[in-house]
Amino acid sequence: MSIKKLITSRYSVRSFIDKEVSLELIKEILKTANSAPSGGNIQPWKIYVVSNNSYKELTTQAVSNFDNGVQEAIDYEIYPKPLADEYKKRRSECASDMYEAISIERDDIDSRMKQIRENFNFFGAPVGMIVTIDKSFAPNGWGHVGMFLQNLWLAAIEEGLGVCLQESWSIYPKTVKQVVKHPDNEMVWCGIAIGYPNTEDPINQYRTSRDSIDSFATFID
Ligand SMILES: Cc1cc2nc3c(=O)[nH]c(=O)nc-3n(C[C@H](O)[C@H](O)[C@H](O)COP(=O)(O)O)c2cc1C
Repeated sequence: MSIKKLITSRYSVRSFIDKEVSLELIKEILKTANSAPSGGNIQPWKIYVVSNNSYKELTTQAVSNFDNGVQEAIDYEIYPKPLADEYKKRRSECASDMYEAISIERDDIDSRMKQIRENFNFFGAPVGMIVTIDKSFAPNGWGHVGMFLQNLWLAAIEEGLGVCLQESWSIYPKTVKQVVKHPDNEMVWCGIAIGYPNTEDPINQYRTSRDSIDSFATFID
């Protein structure tokens, strides 16, 4: 597949088939992603791969948190408060496109919550990852880690896998730390669900839109 095709056909996968992903393959993908550039080549990415016992422990506790309304002290706000109208509009379109694809009505809060809850099961993916970042790096270092994450995503697609990044994991930093035991100087940025996509599931069949380049690019003479 051409790089252009790979980039433009990538989408967030939120349903997976029951097929194991070998840790050898995960290692290969991480090795490829590791070619990402970073300022000064500092390579600030830290990835914790959770599978088997750690996967069970993390998802069980996170789903229980969700079901019981547990709130943990967060390390960062997922979106700025207030979120400017331009971004709010896109976020709301993104949510309504997804719920429409899976036939969940706007006022069906129970079904919406059930879908959000799936984040904490890594959407049924066989392998999960937690991405942390050294607390001292924001925001420049976060950009470097972003280069790595896009590499990882595209490398995974080339192997027939699907991916969803999950900032939702940042609401349970204490739970994540209990399982992955990352050092105190690191904070949880996001999670990653990775596995073979269930292409039959309607949640994997819709595609998000993008605004035109006029909305973000300025050409200055
Ligand atoms: C850093 C990051 C965090 C994200 N967190 C979540 C999440 O917690 N749950 C989720 O369902 N999707 C999450 N997404 C997926 C976005 O909603 C998705 O990328 C966006 O709507 C564009 O859709 P596409 O990836 O299908 O092109 C995240 C994406 C990124 C880049």
